[in-house]
Amino acid sequence: MKGESAVRLVEKGYDKIHMCYSSQRIWRSNLKEVALLTKRMEKGASILDVGCGAGAIAKILSKNGFNVTGADISSNMLRLAKKALPKARFYKMDMRRLKLPKDSFDAITCFYAIIHVPRQYHLKVLKGFRRILKPSGLLLISMSTGPAEGTIADWQDWGAPMYWSQFGKRRNIQLVRKAGFKVLWNRVDSTGPKDDRHLYILAQKR
Ligand SMILES: C[S@@+](CC[C@H](N)C(=O)[O-])C[C@H]1O[C@@H](n2cnc3c(N)ncnc32)[C@H](O)[C@@H]1O
Repeated sequence: MKGESAVRLVEKGYDKIHMCYSSQRIWRSNLKEVALLTKRMEKGASILDVGCGAGAIAKILSKNGFNVTGADISSNMLRLAKKALPKARFYKMDMRRLKLPKDSFDAITCFYAIIHVPRQYHLKVLKGFRRILKPSGLLLISMSTGPAEGTIADWQDWGAPMYWSQFGKRRNIQLVRKAGFKVLWNRVDSTGPKDDRHLYILAQKR
């Protein structure tokens, strides 16, 4: 599948399954990973949650006193996020082209989202994150543990196809470094099923 058509499939897919996805979004609280980031930050700092979906991570950040902005490609996911956090700013944006000012956020979070972007763009996406982070800004991202690329015709029987594209753990860590970050910490979450393992990385803009 070509880059643009894969991105459109993901956008349409999440527009269709937004209610199903968000209602089952309790399988991982992510409190531990988020705390690793927030303990290094001052309350009130600005955090951009990329691929924010219905706002699961944005809600935790906002509850903890951070100034949260969300970005997502799916209008329907964004609608749910706005409902959950009416005071936060949300933008409909493709993470490959974040139209936000340079050096503008103290941190970026990106959970379970880059895995839906064709992997030929992953370095570009990470460089884009670096551009909008302030000097020494932090990135907390979940990536994949093994290489894979493909489409499922009806994900979870929710009535829409879905696409994933990912590298393995070593390559992902290399990419984060290559994009201009220092990797501070990484961990594979092996609590879920074998085919649903994630690599969490905390990195700092060099
Ligand atoms: C698995 S959901 C995760 C949502 C949220 N981060 C969470 O933890 O609940 C993936 C999200 O990434 C968004 N997404 C996928 N590709 C994207 C892209 N190219 N740009 C921005 N958002 C994207 C989807 O629309 C979806 O809301």
